[in-house]
Amino acid sequence: MHKSNVAIYPGSFDPVTNGHLDIIERGSRIFSRVITAVLRNERKEPFFSVEERTEMLERAIEQFQNVEVARFDGLLVDFARKMNAGVVIRGLRAVTDFDYEFQLALMNRRLNNQVETIFLMPSAEYSYLSSSQVKEAVALGGSVEGLVPDFVEDRIRERVRNNIKS
Ligand code: PNS
Repeated sequence: MHKSNVAIYPGSFDPVTNGHLDIIERGSRIFSRVITAVLRNERKEPFFSVEERTEMLERAIEQFQNVEVARFDGLLVDFARKMNAGVVIRGLRAVTDFDYEFQLALMNRRLNNQVETIFLMPSAEYSYLSSSQVKEAVALGGSVEGLVPDFVEDRIRERVRNNIKS
């Protein structure tokens, strides 16, 4: 498969939201193969372990034939090269994302000029959705129905309960 048909969709996915799934679906219609790449080592302590984040993503993307889940650490562009991917997909929700995404895309281009970043816009209903807001809402007793798969909401609630107990 030519590398322009293979895209990496990287992120923390802590946890996966319907906004991520919206981008994955759009990507899967454009590219022959989409590799959802979960960042393993994060500077900040993640809410879910990399195993849990990967497992939830795997369950959430079951219906897409050409989408898979992988883990990575180190430089994203090195992972792209290893997977023979020519494209990095990032979701752009609102203008507030732009500055950070611009820096990331330009740094990645500087590191490897052969990997192109493309931005996809999620459906408007997910424009202001983020994993951190979802976690906060659930922790404070709110419902996030329609914003994450139901099993993800259950997992967050379970984790919050256990955190309170311990
Ligand atoms: O969903 P996120 O947390 O905004 O994703 C950020 C991510 C994982 C795409 C970014 O932090 C990343 O690619 N990290 C790996 C290290 C790297 O290559 N950084 C960019 C160049 S310094």
